[in-house]
Amino acid sequence: TDQKLRDLLISRITDVPDYPKPGVMFKDITPLLADAGAFTALTDALAALCERYRADKVVGLEARGFILAAPVAVRAGVGFVPVRKAGKLPGATLSQAYELEYGTAEIEIHAEALGVGERVLVIDDVLATGGTAEASLKLIRRAGAQVAGVAVLMELGFLNGRERLESVLDGAPLDALIQV
Ligand code: PRP
Repeated sequence: TDQKLRDLLISRITDVPDYPKPGVMFKDITPLLADAGAFTALTDALAALCERYRADKVVGLEARGFILAAPVAVRAGVGFVPVRKAGKLPGATLSQAYELEYGTAEIEIHAEALGVGERVLVIDDVLATGGTAEASLKLIRRAGAQVAGVAVLMELGFLNGRERLESVLDGAPLDALIQV
């Protein structure tokens, strides 16, 4: 059942206080990745969303989103496309800047990575403020593709990322397997 899956996933995520800076509680997913049963259950749950939303591609967000999205692509039988921090992709790119708590960040996608009208499921480990996901959705639409959905392992509800994403989701579903 769903609750059994949530309990398993939560049990394999570790709280690390004061990382990367004082006052922040970091959610470490490396124990989940190291557990074959938990990683497989996570992959299967995300691959099921891929099928439900009839996605043609999965887009993974650097860096932990890559680890989650790549096996989902294989399991669901679709391609994987990376969204990377600026300057990491070798080909012609589209770039999108977004606001951080202090300053701005920029992410990129290969301009030709997605087909026109292709349905894309965006996968990441964490939805925090929603800035990364919001910028990714803009990139996907600028690349000519359609957002089939956004799926994250965990949503940090107190940071209100869901509200920030709402307008840019444009009706596409946002699924979080667990809420923190
Ligand atoms: C983290 C996380 C998400 C993003 C969520 O990545 O993996 O991608 O932040 O935050 P937001 O909702 O406030 O945008 P990070 O920027 O730490 O990159 P990394 O995975 O490469 O360490």
